[in-house]
Amino acid sequence: MNRAIFLPLLLLALADCSVSLGNDNVCPRKVAAPCHQLTGNTPVGCYDITYTEPNMTVLGAGRGNPERGFYTYTETSTSNWNTLNVEDLQSFVQQGYTLIFRYVILDTFVNSNISDDILLKIGEDFDTLREAGMKVVLRLCYSISESIKSDAKLNQLLSHLNQLTPILDEHAGVIAVVQAGFIGVWGEWYYTENYGDEGVISQANWMDRGTVLSQLMNAIPASRHIQLRTPKYKKVARLGIHNDCFLASDTDYGTYENIAVDYPFLQEETKYLPMGGETCNYNPPRSDCPTALKELRELHFTYLNNGYHEGVLNSWKTQSCYNELVLHHPTSGATYYTCGSTGVDLRTWLPGTHSLQLSMTVPKKAPRGRYQVLLRLPDGDSRLKDLDVYNIVIENLVDSNNAARRLNLIGYTEVEN
Ligand SMILES: *[C@@H]1O[C@H](CO)[C@@H](O)[C@H](O)[C@H]1NC(C)=O
Ligand SMILES: *[C@@H]1O[C@H](CO)[C@@H](O)[C@H](O)[C@H]1NC(C)=O
Repeated sequence: MNRAIFLPLLLLALADCSVSLGNDNVCPRKVAAPCHQLTGNTPVGCYDITYTEPNMTVLGAGRGNPERGFYTYTETSTSNWNTLNVEDLQSFVQQGYTLIFRYVILDTFVNSNISDDILLKIGEDFDTLREAGMKVVLRLCYSISESIKSDAKLNQLLSHLNQLTPILDEHAGVIAVVQAGFIGVWGEWYYTENYGDEGVISQANWMDRGTVLSQLMNAIPASRHIQLRTPKYKKVARLGIHNDCFLASDTDYGTYENIAVDYPFLQEETKYLPMGGETCNYNPPRSDCPTALKELRELHFTYLNNGYHEGVLNSWKTQSCYNELVLHHPTSGATYYTCGSTGVDLRTWLPGTHSLQLSMTVPKKAPRGRYQVLLRLPDGDSRLKDLDVYNIVIENLVDSNNAARRLNLIGYTEVEN
């Protein structure tokens, strides 16, 4: 899991006495008082830090980084609601997961508004996710059975989006990404009653699809991304791709219409937008490790389903690259946020060298002595930024005596006089 990602951190102490280091968890604490003198290895200097992903096989509770890695699949339908429960989620966390996938199947509301009761339950599930310190890859649709193609007609679908908007807005922080969904079986925009079935898509159908998408963009807070099923469907920024047949055939079962064009397009787009999905067919040699690792890297995947497709996942285990699959670019959902925040958004970081300039000062009343200098990389969402469970950790820097706080230990300094 040793990714060649170097984060040289330029730490400038005493450069600016307006912000205190303060308590690692409570930040920033402004002080007007003059600063202490600092000595030791960190007050001023440049540090090369090698970013290392937490090793998923040896993770303790909550050690996985947020918004990345394999997800655990869950589903619920309005005809038979299956509430998320915090014990289940905590057991996923114990196994090192930070993401679940969640289908919300609105099967009883194809022709009517969503009931208040269900809206409440959707909101409660988001609260449960926050309690467990997890995030969700969310997809809503009306059917996950190929024989039931019914989906809501345009006006009804737009009403549903209106109803959901305040809930999605309130809980944006725990939503890793929203998959466009809604249209067709599995929300995959293919087998559909109302929007152009099996790829036969009229001009009017395209217009309706566009309307659904722009309404969805309005419904989802700007900090969150939306993913579509194939490159063809994707026209607007903030839209990522989910490939649910990764490596399944030469075209990943029709994900690509023209690989020569679509693949480079995705390589470029996924530098800035989330990419994820699942495998759906054992297809050696294409589904074997060498191609899997190459494409996961080139397409900047951030998550995959841990439960599907078993044949492909087993082949990866026997080819012992399973652990390597958590290799991802270091962009995650977090906005860089420290005391005296630099405003750097880690989601924009690709593998390579990056610099951060941080200045810290210590308030006059701070006790003298040796201090750990810790780097905290919290979530950018206002409701999550104080929850340590969402902090990004660098495996080799995390203070193992204090793992639950998920802080990265950069060095030490002495406070004198
Ligand atoms: C992850 O941890 C396991 C168990 O200790 C170890 O066998 C494996 O080599 C580690 N993987 C990496 C990439 O460090
Ligand atoms: C359905 O919900 C929409 C959006 O909230 C609302 O404007 C409309 O009046 C509702 N329709 C019914 C029949 O309740």
